[in-house]
Amino acid sequence: MQQFNSQFADIQERLRATLPDASLVETQFNGCPGLRLALINPDFQTGPLPSQVMHAVIANPAYWAFCWGSGLALARYLIAEPGLVTGKTVLDVGSGSGVAGIAAALAGASEVIACDNDADALAASAANAVLSGVDLSLCSDLARAPVCDVALLADVLYDRSNLPLLELTRTLARVVIVADSRVKVLGDPGFELIHEATALTEPNLGEFDEFANVRVWRATGTGNNAG
Ligand SMILES: C[S@@+](CC[C@H](N)C(=O)[O-])C[C@H]1O[C@@H](n2cnc3c(N)ncnc32)[C@H](O)[C@@H]1O
Repeated sequence: MQQFNSQFADIQERLRATLPDASLVETQFNGCPGLRLALINPDFQTGPLPSQVMHAVIANPAYWAFCWGSGLALARYLIAEPGLVTGKTVLDVGSGSGVAGIAAALAGASEVIACDNDADALAASAANAVLSGVDLSLCSDLARAPVCDVALLADVLYDRSNLPLLELTRTLARVVIVADSRVKVLGDPGFELIHEATALTEPNLGEFDEFANVRVWRATGTGNNAG
């Protein structure tokens, strides 16, 4: 508990570096027993923000302080279908809060690596793993991530410039699972649609209804590194 308390203080400080009035609140989720995440307070101020706060948020958005709808839908799916990850090594690409990777660990993955290019997100993933009582390793650069059985990408394709991450991830994993509410067609024939679900981002950002519909696709790795 002492370990989590110091990690919690650290990520709260990281959040307040951009949003001085925000707090982190322990949050639990229907359909995800055991999953606990420290997320931004649901009544956080959305605007109007002072211009220097707005600039800080845009420069360093705390995506990790939210559990995105795609991550939540994927977490529920993995917990309902543990055979997807039980006994397997799992790489959570764009881990944010760590939601998908922590759910994989709760579903019985043998090892989980959270990968994010935002150092604050890695600190949050580590803290939330402790809060949820699971082990997680960290990786800050996907190009240096180890080969694994299953790679997860939840709500990482919001930025179309991230599409090349799909191909890179396929060289690192035997199976790649993508969950996304913003992309309707992946445009890669190697991916098959395996699941659809409804889930809202927590805390609720008041997003358009269409972003509550999450699609989950699966592809086999291309095997360049997967051996
Ligand atoms: C919208 S958040 C989703 C977080 C989490 N998967 C979820 O569903 O709640 C996207 C995350 O992807 C991370 N990300 C974006 N581009 C990345 C890249 N090239 N490599 C690793 N992480 C990246 C961001 O830092 C952010 O934490």
